[in-house]
Amino acid sequence: MNITFKNKRVLITGGASGIGKIMGSMALERGAELVIWDVNTQAMQATAQEFASLGKISVYTVDVTSYEQITLAAKRVKQELGPVDILINNAGIVVGKYFQDHTRADIDRTMQINTLALMYITQQFLPDMLERNTGSICNIASSAGLISNPRMSVYAASKWAVIGWSDSLRLEMEQQHKNIHVTTIAPYYINTGMFDGVRSIVPILKPENVARSVIRGIEKKRVFISMPWNLHFVRFGQAVMSVRLFDWFVGGVMGIYKTMDHFTGRK
Ligand SMILES: NC(=O)c1ccc[n+]([C@@H]2O[C@H](COP(=O)([O-])OP(=O)(O)OC[C@H]3O[C@@H](n4cnc5c(N)ncnc54)[C@H](O)[C@@H]3O)[C@@H](O)[C@H]2O)c1
Repeated sequence: MNITFKNKRVLITGGASGIGKIMGSMALERGAELVIWDVNTQAMQATAQEFASLGKISVYTVDVTSYEQITLAAKRVKQELGPVDILINNAGIVVGKYFQDHTRADIDRTMQINTLALMYITQQFLPDMLERNTGSICNIASSAGLISNPRMSVYAASKWAVIGWSDSLRLEMEQQHKNIHVTTIAPYYINTGMFDGVRSIVPILKPENVARSVIRGIEKKRVFISMPWNLHFVRFGQAVMSVRLFDWFVGGVMGIYKTMDHFTGRK
């Protein structure tokens, strides 16, 4: 049976912008109650105003690099609203430079927001889900969690880690026969502004299409979604080609390793 969003409490991190914001509107349109966590209070409040006619929205300013803020906000959500039914771990950042140009703060921030926060936030809401034996957790990784790429080393590391953790969590829920579904998402570049300046012959994805696929994926209890779908062949390619041959094809023929050369990112 499919999961329905109707009358569910949906928490989206990074829900004030990009695909997080669109997924929020789609959850509301499906009859869910929306909870947004974001560090950008202004954008979050504007989002709440924009979506006010769609349903109930609660917003919490949370910097997910802070374990203290995560635990405090989780406590408030549970006390003020109740348990979370669907958790979408979406907030993410990218630095976009060669590794030697990363500061320690760049490394820490990327790993904290893109990787550790997902685990810490899940830890806050999973016990309730286990107790009620119901829930969905969706973790937004990236195709950078499957393919190595210049000017993305730390981002790639953070997303490889998400894929390993998220899909293992799925297996753990299945092994324990829990009615808690874990979906891992690995999209290629999306036109949200986060990766402004990227040049790619593989078409850059439309935010609305990605958001819709994620929401439908949660509804259908999909375990792993890569976008475009043929990214599924990446692992096959890595398995049957030598690293040099894979580099030649993905880097040379498809031009992936040059996509970040003109990266400017979100200003
Ligand atoms: N845009 C892409 O090309 C692309 C591709 C693959 C995967 N992704 C992933 O999709 C997710 C969403 O990306 P997007 O393009 O919509 O990004 P976005 O920049 O439009 O939105 C990210 C949101 O996260 C919030 N955020 C950032 N740091 C935070 C923090 N410390 N605490 C709380 N919130 C914080 C931002 O304020 C923003 O609202 C990210 O995890 C990203 O890595 C994006």
